[in-house]
Order: sequence, then C-alpha cells, then structure tokens
Amino acid sequence: MTTTDSGTVLITGPTRGLGRSATLAMAGRPDGARPDLLLVGRGGPALTEVADAARALGANVRAIGCDLSRLADVRAAAETARDLLGTGAVRPLRALIANAGTMSADTRVASADGYELTFAVNHLAHARLIGDLLGSLAAPARIVLLGSNTYHANVPRRILGVPGAEWRDPLEIARPAPAEQKPGLKSSGVAYSNAKLAILYYAHELQRQAGPGINVSVYEPGWMPGTALGRDAPAAFRAIGRGLARLPGVATAEGSGPKLASVALDDAWAHLRDGAFVVVDQEREVRPVARDRERERRLWAATAELLDRAGTRT
Ligand SMILES: NC(=O)c1ccc[n+]([C@@H]2O[C@H](COP(=O)([O-])OP(=O)(O)OC[C@H]3O[C@@H](n4cnc5c(N)ncnc54)[C@H](OP(=O)(O)O)[C@@H]3O)[C@@H](O)[C@H]2O)c1
Repeated sequence: MTTTDSGTVLITGPTRGLGRSATLAMAGRPDGARPDLLLVGRGGPALTEVADAARALGANVRAIGCDLSRLADVRAAAETARDLLGTGAVRPLRALIANAGTMSADTRVASADGYELTFAVNHLAHARLIGDLLGSLAAPARIVLLGSNTYHANVPRRILGVPGAEWRDPLEIARPAPAEQKPGLKSSGVAYSNAKLAILYYAHELQRQAGPGINVSVYEPGWMPGTALGRDAPAAFRAIGRGLARLPGVATAEGSGPKLASVALDDAWAHLRDGAFVVVDQEREVRPVARDRERERRLWAATAELLDRAGTRT
C-alpha cells in the first residue's frame, strides 16, 4: 500500500489500546513512509514509554502532555503543536487522529469545565483541538474521528446491555447527571453512545466547515472488549469483557491499530470524506439516524457555545 506524503500525524490517546497500536504501526513504517508523530496524551510514564518505543522504531516523535478533560490543557496542547510545526521541528501536519475516548461509569462526574466527562473527552476536547489546528493542517490532509456502532445499539452491544444513543439537545447531553441519580450501566452506556453519535454529526458538519483538501472520516475499530475502555465499569462487566476478548473473530487493538493508521495515511483511503464511516477495514453506510442536517447544525452551534462558556473559544 502506498502513502502520498506522510508529513506529521497528531494522535490523541496514544498511551494504550487502539491509539498505542496505531502509533507503533505508524512509527514502524519503512523509511520514506514513516510520519513524524505528535503524541497527545496524559503526561506520565505511559506517554514517555510509547514515545520512546516509537522513537526506537525510527520516528521523529514529540510527546505533548494533555488531560483532555481540561479544555485549557487542550488549548495549550494545540499551541505546542503549532509551535513545533511552525519551527519545523516536525514536518507539515497531514493527519489528525482524534482517538482518545472514555466511557465514564458515573454520568454525574464532570470535567474540569463542568461538562459530563464522556461527552467532554470524546467530543468537546477534540472539537477544541481540531478547531485550534484546522488552520495548521497542510492539504491534502485527513481528520479521522473515532466512532462506534453503539450509536444504534447493535446486536452484541444489546446482548451486553450497552444501550444505543438517546439524543437530546447537546446542551443537555453536556450536563452532568444530578447528584441524586444513581450511576449505572444504562446511563453510562447512553452517554457513551450519545457522544459517539455526536461524533458522526460533528464529522458531517466539520466537512462542510473545513477548507478544501481536508477530508473528514470516522473510524470504528470493531468491538474490542480487551481494551481499557470499560475500566470503570463494574467488575462483573469487565470480567465478561475479558472472557469475550479471547473469542475468535473479536477485534483487538493490535489488529485494528494498523488499520486505523492506514485510514489516516494510505492512498487507498484518500477518497474518504464527508464523515465516511469505516468499520475495521470496510467502508459502511451509517444508519439514517446518523445523518440529520438539523441536529448537525445544532451540535455545531452548541459545541461553540460550550467551548465559549468554558472560556476557550477562539
Ligand atoms: N474498545 C472498543 O470496543 C471500541 C469500539 C469502538 C470505538 N472505540 C473507540 O476507540 C478509541 C480508543 O479506545 P480504546 O478501546 O483503545 O480504549 P482505551 O484502551 O481505554 O484507550 C483510551 C485512550 O484514551 C486516553 N484518554 C482517556 N481519557 C483521557 C483524558 N482525559 N486525557 C487524555 N487522554 C485520555 C487514554 O489515556 P490514559 O492511558 O491516560 O487513560 C488512552 O490512551 C476510543 O475513542 C473509543 O471510544 C472503542
């Protein structure tokens, strides 16, 4: 598979699971096809370790410490990335992979800016980062967002009791649950699915807002019960996940990471735009619920309002 000019790829959440696997797959590409890497993740030993591992494979790597649950951190990370690009420490920015994600077990928990944590990390932080770096992408460039089929509660998720999205106005989705509401798998799952449906809506609107030569797609890695995504879930749920992860045919971070890297870099995927949805390694049409011009416009405006309220809007 060939790659045009690999330039630099920025990826969030490189410290474990899918993001780590994609990072090492990019770093392990042969000379001439290996991008420079901007790794945006929570500062600490895991970020240092993956940066060192990618360097050992030959990549020019810069690690940018950032807690995505703090919009001020996200803003600072974008500024650091712009500085590195501006000084030529890394090559032009060709791709941004918004991979980091979380599924908070308790929807009463708020981000540093007061927003429900799952929505804040999966959607708002990436909207902030992309908004701040849109002008720094060098066309032809790609933005790859991380989606999930949970938005429509597909069969395996229904078996596990992970509900689909229950869309509401984004200002309501961003509001943490009231203190008296007991945490549970249902509310946690709905919050996660809403955040992933938001990412599809956002991708469609982002494509309309982005300049020429910037292509937006959404990647769904397949159901990977072996990752740490459900780390806050009840022990019984995690034990089921660990068991299911061993079944043949179930997706893994090691299997899907290189495919995500391919979607960000390879010529074979250069045509993807308008929020094209890739499931593992196949382009798929999304359900009708995931295309809604009115919701997309509303989400765009509400996202700007939420970022503005947090005092970080450009
Ligand atoms: N697992 C699945 O079945 C599945 C299916 C469809 C889509 N996805 C999506 O795939 C992506 C990767 O998920 P995964 O399964 O690889 O999960 P994971 O193993 O839990 O990895 C999540 C990554 O996001 C980072 N992250 C979470 N909260 C953060 C924060 N506040 N600040 C900075 N980084 C943060 C984590 O960093 P730390 O190491 O610091 O926690 C980690 O690097 C997510 O967007 C997820 O929604 C997963």
